[in-house]
Amino acid sequence: MQLPSVILKRGRERSVINRHPWVFSGAVSHVSGDVQPGDIVDVRAHDGAWLGRGAVNPHSDVFVRLMTWDESQAVDEAFVQERLAATIARRGGQQTCRLVYLEADGLPGLIVDRYGDVVIVQILTPAMERWRDVVVNALVECVQPRSLYERSDTDVRQREGLSLRTGVLWGAEPPELIQVVAEGTAFLVDVRRGQKTGFFLDQRINHWQVAAYCAGKTVLNCFSYTGGFAIAALKRGAQKVINVDTSADALALAARTAELNGVADRMENVQADVFQFLRQCRDDGAQFDVIILDPPKFAHSKAALDRACRGYKDINWLAMRLLKPAGILVTFSCSGLVTPALFQSVVAGAAVDAQRTGRIIAKLSQPPDHPILLTFPESEYLKGLVCAVE
Ligand SMILES: C[S@@+](CC[C@H](N)C(=O)[O-])C[C@H]1O[C@@H](n2cnc3c(N)ncnc32)[C@H](O)[C@@H]1O
Repeated sequence: MQLPSVILKRGRERSVINRHPWVFSGAVSHVSGDVQPGDIVDVRAHDGAWLGRGAVNPHSDVFVRLMTWDESQAVDEAFVQERLAATIARRGGQQTCRLVYLEADGLPGLIVDRYGDVVIVQILTPAMERWRDVVVNALVECVQPRSLYERSDTDVRQREGLSLRTGVLWGAEPPELIQVVAEGTAFLVDVRRGQKTGFFLDQRINHWQVAAYCAGKTVLNCFSYTGGFAIAALKRGAQKVINVDTSADALALAARTAELNGVADRMENVQADVFQFLRQCRDDGAQFDVIILDPPKFAHSKAALDRACRGYKDINWLAMRLLKPAGILVTFSCSGLVTPALFQSVVAGAAVDAQRTGRIIAKLSQPPDHPILLTFPESEYLKGLVCAVE
């Protein structure tokens, strides 16, 4: 059966040939045939040459999400099932990890996180919505979980014209809190109400990389969430860690996780806005050996990039001023639109304004289960700099 075709404007085929998986609406000349969100379409150059195949959503800026560059390959239920099984196999049986990471695993619109025998699913596009049953069946078969739970409650879904959904997809209701072991340490995760799917799995290796700088030190852990960096630092012998976050629930879980790990006596939790808290510390003359900045995504669109950079600069400038001589600043950005080069230049600007000399002694990124697809730079979003600050 002939699929509908999305015909590109003249000269707009290069990125598809280079296997970038997104076709933006601005690159589209016209569509031959009637298409509904989630339909599978062929993408063709202006002269009709076949370029790729994927799922269309005329209501989204990303008009087509390409899934194959092989004309003989059908994109159907069997294709999704096979890709999902291959992706899970690549994770090698890890118990706590991201099992599926969107386009980078060839499955646009699908995130799957595993916390032992509880598996959390996020479905973000109309095409993946249609494959919901295929996804559930494949996960049950490949992972054999006790519970499959849906957390499709992110605003990305609304931009794709989908309403929010949460609830059990298969098996038992997950417990109130799950105890998982990440990098050898027990963490408590609230998979139903926590941020993202409950835990920042993308930072779990960095928690330990950063802990290496914290032994015997006083650490200010800004945007702490449930204290991943704090627990690791305290277990590595940090003298004291102060967590700062606006979320009371996250801080309560940080406190319980600290109890679980026997480090609660050296942890302090402060519910506050980091921008205000850092200013208060400056006014009080407080100083720290190590400051960690792991803010939420500041740049959600290109239009918001300038404002986001001002936000990054502000917190980095304040943090540098609060560091003791020979202090360590660990600073992250998880905004995909902020490139590593741009982020580094913002942090450099902050150092100049703070009149401190900073040297990058390590660069941090996302873990192997959040792979960066070579042909899709957008899949690289998490960057961190460890700076020694004179
Ligand atoms: C990227 S997450 C931090 C993840 C954490 N570092 C970890 O490794 O688990 C960002 C956190 O910042 C918090 N947050 C957002 N805006 C804030 C603000 N203005 N002040 C303090 N916390 C904020 C959120 O509640 C969230 O817990």
